[in-house]
Amino acid sequence: MTLRPGDAGIAATGVRRSFAGVDAVRGMDVHAAPGEVTGLVGPNGAGKTTLLLVLATLLVPDGGSVRVAGHDPVTEPRAVRARMGWSPDVFGLYEGVTAREYLEFYAAAYGLDAARRRRRAAALLDQARLGEFADRPVGVLSRGQKQRLGLVRALVHEPAVLLLDEPASGLDPRSRVELRELLRELARAGTTVLVSSHVLSDLEELADRVVFVDAGRTVGDHRVAALPRGTAWRPWRIRSLDPAALLAVLDQAGVDHGEPGSGGVDVVLAGDEEAVDLLAMLVAARVPVAAFQPVGGSLEAAFLSLTDQAP
Ligand SMILES: Nc1ncnc2c1ncn2[C@@H]1O[C@H](COP(=O)(O)OP(=O)(O)OP(=O)(O)O)[C@@H](O)[C@H]1O
Ligand SMILES: [Mg+2]
Repeated sequence: MTLRPGDAGIAATGVRRSFAGVDAVRGMDVHAAPGEVTGLVGPNGAGKTTLLLVLATLLVPDGGSVRVAGHDPVTEPRAVRARMGWSPDVFGLYEGVTAREYLEFYAAAYGLDAARRRRRAAALLDQARLGEFADRPVGVLSRGQKQRLGLVRALVHEPAVLLLDEPASGLDPRSRVELRELLRELARAGTTVLVSSHVLSDLEELADRVVFVDAGRTVGDHRVAALPRGTAWRPWRIRSLDPAALLAVLDQAGVDHGEPGSGGVDVVLAGDEEAVDLLAMLVAARVPVAAFQPVGGSLEAAFLSLTDQAP
């Protein structure tokens, strides 16, 4: 997919940025379209935060071209900030103010008048399920509650482009589901959502597209619905009522396996066909197989094969 400079969304091409000899971003291409959630996925140190800081106008790139909501973060930072919401991985919250004051402060900074500020803050507190904490100091909120407050802070001015760095970290399962629903809802309304995450199972259900980055470069760009299923190397877990018999057949067949644990034993197979063959072999050898399933989703399998951790 290509975006023209005048388009909404995010178009970053050939972005580079280094820090005192560390090439954090060496050539990233990241495009995100309005109405879609795009996942930015990569191992620690891949350059995700650095790229997001460039998109958020907070870091000047050494090279490449960047457009956020049709504007250049380097030459038109104010235009970008007016249209873009940014939720960093770690928040600096003003601990002494209340949650409501905090949101109203940001609403004021974005130029909302007093009446709109109050309405917007109340709606966002509700959205973040922080209504009962509205008038308590931000300092007493739990980590997950702070995370939710920081997230809705990014929505104060109803941005066209939303950048989120690891928004799911620190959230409990219910809050993760709510985050997913909130981001899907924003995308449905036409917002461009770019979200970095390590939690691939979350992204699998959330993202329309994923961009994989590694060592400062874009290494893959996939539509989640079109990810290879059934052909990629991936781990499978097998549990047998007779673990010794299972291991004997695996060893005999030359299938590499991990240490057997209480959940079963893990093997890495080349795809669905190899799994079918192995299961047939185990059944033919009268191994009592109680469970035989892939470990992790197809996004995880694609990610592992891209970052060269598969055999
Ligand atoms: N201000 C800085 N000064 C020096 N090096 C930096 C700076 N910021 C980032 N780096 C380096 O750039 C590389 C990319 O860092 P970045 O934070 O962008 O990775 P990331 O993909 O967000 O990682 P994580 O998943 O751990 O959040 C790392 O090697 C990091 O040490
Ligand atoms: Mg990061």
